[in-house]
Amino acid sequence: MPLRSVHAAAVLLLMVLKEQPSNPTPLNGPDGEKSWSKSYPSCGGLMQSPIDLHNDILQYNASLVPLGFQGYSESADQQFVLTNNGHSVKLKLPKDMHIQGLGARYNASQLHLHWGDQNEPHGSEHTVGGKHFAAELHMVYYNSDLYPNASIASDKPEGLAVLAVLIEMGSFNPSYDKIFSHLKDVKYKGQEVSIPGFSIEELLPKRPEEYYRYRGSLTTPPCYPTVIWTVFRNPVQISQQQVTVVLFLVREHVASRTLPPPIS
Ligand SMILES: *[C@@H]1O[C@H](CO)[C@@H](O)[C@H](O)[C@H]1NC(C)=O
Ligand SMILES: *[C@@H]1O[C@H](CO)[C@@H](O)[C@H](O)[C@H]1NC(C)=O
Ligand SMILES: *[C@@H]1O[C@H](CO)[C@@H](O)[C@H](O)[C@H]1NC(C)=O
Ligand SMILES: [Zn+2]
Repeated sequence: MPLRSVHAAAVLLLMVLKEQPSNPTPLNGPDGEKSWSKSYPSCGGLMQSPIDLHNDILQYNASLVPLGFQGYSESADQQFVLTNNGHSVKLKLPKDMHIQGLGARYNASQLHLHWGDQNEPHGSEHTVGGKHFAAELHMVYYNSDLYPNASIASDKPEGLAVLAVLIEMGSFNPSYDKIFSHLKDVKYKGQEVSIPGFSIEELLPKRPEEYYRYRGSLTTPPCYPTVIWTVFRNPVQISQQQVTVVLFLVREHVASRTLPPPIS
């Protein structure tokens, strides 16, 4: 069924083709993406993420269920830790946050964002019909029925689940600003700051029951093919000014993007 004929409340399944189109994200230099598979064989694998979501590979699957987001509003009572590890800025998530609907229980680990840069402010990893979005949020979970934490789970079967939110330019987003307004405190590698909790559910787009599902990999080396991806169909909006501020603040670690971070 072509994607456009799928209406509200539909849950979508992505069928992954044998021949994946190569990832369009340009990365220059000797440590760029094309050379990743030399040191990390999984990076040349068939399950490599991200991918382009387009009609030819999408198929409606009625047996996929809406995900349950547990412990999301309770997270409002806790402080979150925001860290810059030199590769990206991550927000550690409380373990009592988890998702239901994937068979096993998946406890939350962290969330992080993928950005472009000032010259090319279209930094989403997944594309839809060949189109990049301004940015992409990843919430990383691990199979907590089988494994003790995300780093142990990252190279194991059914190890990780990532929820991906596509972010486009539009109106000001007060929920995302609860993270962005603290980025200035973690401008440099090794910095860490506690930020006031909020309901992580606010970061999800409208109608989260509409999503694309496929089995793929970490998007950066070592590219383990262990990720159950859920890419929400509807994007969220942030303002031009929010994009500008964030790109200014993150340019230090965007500059080091060609160095592979350990997870997704
Ligand atoms: C539809 O989704 C279910 C649940 O994830 C899965 O078991 C099944 O293989 C999917 N069907 C197809 C045709 O891929
Ligand atoms: C997952 O979260 C639950 C609830 O907080 C906790 O009891 C459990 O120990 C967690 N699992 C792991 C592997 O930490
Ligand atoms: C993950 O769990 C393993 C085994 O329990 C432990 O050795 C390791 O330190 C943990 N890693 C993190 C990042 O907590
Ligand atoms: Zn990611």
